[in-house]
Amino acid sequence: MLAVRLLVPLATVGAMAFEINEHKITSLMAAVYTPMKGPGSLELDLDRIMPYAKFLKSKNITNVMPAGSNGESLSLTVPERKALAEAWGKAGQATGLKIYMHVGSESLPESMDLTAHASKTPGIYGAVCMSPVYFKPTLETLHDFLAHTASAAPDFPFWFYHFPDDTGVLAGQVNKLLGMIEESGRIPNFMGIKYTDYNPAWWRALWTSPCASR
Ligand SMILES: *[C@@H]1O[C@H](CO)[C@@H](O)[C@H](O)[C@H]1NC(C)=O
Repeated sequence: MLAVRLLVPLATVGAMAFEINEHKITSLMAAVYTPMKGPGSLELDLDRIMPYAKFLKSKNITNVMPAGSNGESLSLTVPERKALAEAWGKAGQATGLKIYMHVGSESLPESMDLTAHASKTPGIYGAVCMSPVYFKPTLETLHDFLAHTASAAPDFPFWFYHFPDDTGVLAGQVNKLLGMIEESGRIPNFMGIKYTDYNPAWWRALWTSPCASR
């Protein structure tokens, strides 16, 4: 449905329509670590972000995703994740790196709050959202979770972060989720998936999904 909608002249769907093509990621993205103040410390070391960004820039990295699996993810508190977004946003603006924040949480209101916060933070270009992992959602519940989370910033590019080996959610079924998102039309700012699945058969299954043409 979304693919079809993109063929409709903009004027007929309104000036506010979300344009997928304006937000596509076409170059490498680094999943960065989250620095702490020395061994055993529980405190973020935000002063390290700017030199880290300059280092990545010197290696010709163009996109960065903080607070994902490499970056402490759910181990961070919401205030820490917001502080991290602000520090990376500043570093991104200073270096020209594009920053994409992981916003997923076990709590829907927290995921929505982090998405809204990322969308208002200068230098952040999009949100990437993991599934809740303790109460493992059905396909329908995950779709609802993502739809609500993405709606917290409806004009902000939004990706699903698929990592079934770590989350235990949706192994081999992400193509069904894509089909559901395509059919429902409830996530107009949906861009795609950050895809981490060790099973190559499931990668092939993706290409049968109605979203594959994106
Ligand atoms: C980065 O890109 C520049 C310009 O293309 C090139 O000269 C340089 O060698 C690249 N640096 C690395 C680390 O790849």
